[in-house]
Amino acid sequence: MAEKVLVTGGAGYIGSHACKALAAAGFVPVTYDNLVTGWREAVKFGPFEEGDLMDRARLDEVFANHKPVAVMHFAALSQVGEAMSQPGKYWRGNVSASLSLIEATLAAGVRDFVFSSTCATYGDQDGVVLDENSPQMPLNAYGASKRAIEDMLKDFGNSDGLNSVIFRYFNVAGADPDGEVGEFHQPETHLIPLILDAIDGRRAALTIHGTDYPTEDGTCIRDYVHVMDLVDAHVQGLNWLRAGEGPTAGGTEVFCLGTGDGFSVREVVSAAGSVTNRAVPMQDGPRRAGDAVKLVSGSERAGRVLGWRPDRSTMPQMIRDAWRWHQNGGYER
Ligand SMILES: NC(=O)c1ccc[n+]([C@@H]2O[C@H](COP(=O)([O-])OP(=O)(O)OC[C@H]3O[C@@H](n4cnc5c(N)ncnc54)[C@H](O)[C@@H]3O)[C@@H](O)[C@H]2O)c1
Repeated sequence: MAEKVLVTGGAGYIGSHACKALAAAGFVPVTYDNLVTGWREAVKFGPFEEGDLMDRARLDEVFANHKPVAVMHFAALSQVGEAMSQPGKYWRGNVSASLSLIEATLAAGVRDFVFSSTCATYGDQDGVVLDENSPQMPLNAYGASKRAIEDMLKDFGNSDGLNSVIFRYFNVAGADPDGEVGEFHQPETHLIPLILDAIDGRRAALTIHGTDYPTEDGTCIRDYVHVMDLVDAHVQGLNWLRAGEGPTAGGTEVFCLGTGDGFSVREVVSAAGSVTNRAVPMQDGPRRAGDAVKLVSGSERAGRVLGWRPDRSTMPQMIRDAWRWHQNGGYER
């Protein structure tokens, strides 16, 4: 019988794509999600269990019913602006919630854990290409909460033999090319869907947050990874753990998932205009508190150890797949 993997946040953007990749790799993805930002309709590749990470009894019940062999933990709150104004929501919703999940995982005897961390744990580090050893100096409670969860995984590795793969993502973009799932955040805060909303009139104009950053065109620079490449890394990381090639007696391994190429906001806008052959209505706006100037990472370690190659992560490909989803996809409550 196919092995099950508990996917927290499987009704969200990245989690739903991970469920598709897990199913294609022969696992049964069991989505555990409270639908706070996710969509019931996005759960297409395995069973759905509605529940909150803070509900320990519900988690225990789901572990007992499905007996997953591993956990992929995507569920989180992840809006930087909200994290700046409501830090308590992030410490509770990310850190306390992850503690509840980790304790339930250990109580169920599961030892293999894959975690979504973020480049927001780095903060601003002037011009460098980041890697797994770069210092973590988060600028907001979102990044700080993710760094705290990384620390928690290390502690439970030492105390209880939890084996974790931690992926630090940069900006995730694109959609399933088959159109089964895609990015649909409400409210949307991610650049590419915001640009596409402006192109097709769902919003009046794209606001560029900050045009006076110390970069060539004054806008922030980010590293974009195609969501299908990103979820492939998760399956590779899971297989690596399951094969006993990663940590086996408790430990964490960190991988940065970036392409090494940075794109400024204006460069992404211009690429979206070219790919869609449409004008992008836009206006300049003030900086957003908590935003770093430049976040770019290589993926040498993920390539060397896991064999990961972000082959689909070209800007035109990500925009093309996002645009196709944007025109035909979406979910309803
Ligand atoms: N999208 C990006 O560019 C990006 C970049 C870096 C890191 N990440 C991380 O990747 C993960 C997934 O991001 P996403 O863009 O798919 O977000 P998303 O909001 O689409 O998905 C998160 C899912 O988690 C669920 N959830 C949140 N809190 C929960 C709780 N307490 N109990 C149960 N379910 C809960 C939501 O309902 C949602 O379905 C997050 O951990 C995020 O921090 C995302």
